[in-house]
Amino acid sequence: MTKLSVNVNKVATLRNARGGNNPNLLQVAKDCEKFGADGITVHPRPDERHIRYADVLALKPILTTEFNIEGYPSKEFIDLILKVKPHQVTLVPDAPNQITSNAGWDTITHQALLTELIETFRQAGIRTSIFIGTEIPLIEQAAKIGADRVELYTEPYAAHYAENREEAIAPFIKAAERVKELGMGLNAGHDLSLENLAYFHEQIPWVDEVSIGHAIICDALYMGLEKTIAAYQDCLK
Ligand code: PXP
Repeated sequence: MTKLSVNVNKVATLRNARGGNNPNLLQVAKDCEKFGADGITVHPRPDERHIRYADVLALKPILTTEFNIEGYPSKEFIDLILKVKPHQVTLVPDAPNQITSNAGWDTITHQALLTELIETFRQAGIRTSIFIGTEIPLIEQAAKIGADRVELYTEPYAAHYAENREEAIAPFIKAAERVKELGMGLNAGHDLSLENLAYFHEQIPWVDEVSIGHAIICDALYMGLEKTIAAYQDCLK
């Protein structure tokens, strides 16, 4: 079964636009769970422009599904993870002021850093997922350094889906097969949507979890959150 983790960063962005507490992030996260999300993802950034560190602390005790925290492993981020102890941490190599993640880790260049982090989080009972592209040597290196899972960066798939979906998915199938052979878990995320998710899942049914934010919130403007989450879950059947 593929889990749907809803990234609620955009809800925090909307809230922060007016400085109050509308929409109420905690309520939205609980409602996502009620409407069928299998997990909640947040991506706190150093400038706290969407999810704040305080949001992460407040979410932990109220969530009943899987909590996934993604981000660049700054000292503050590592301290937050060790304090909150989510089910999963997803390490992302993004610079502090980046609009959104736009590449996976070079697991060869950064092997020392990643090895140490994976071990630190393992000792705290937290699963580590490494955000990564489809390059096979980088995936093999992720397995060597002990990553529990990798999250495939799906933006290139989404960008080429409309043009030629067979070509767009091909490198992801190869990468996902290698991940399976190496015994790691498999996540995927970035720019997945109602347009491209069902085909991704049909081609790679062993994906453990997809993490989706932007498109879910955009669709919810028209369909409402409950129907939107149900529609995404339908793509994963
Ligand atoms: N996975 C990672 C590592 C991300 O950084 C993001 C964006 O915050 C997502 C998944 C979700 O991407 P999207 O908002 O395009 O669904």
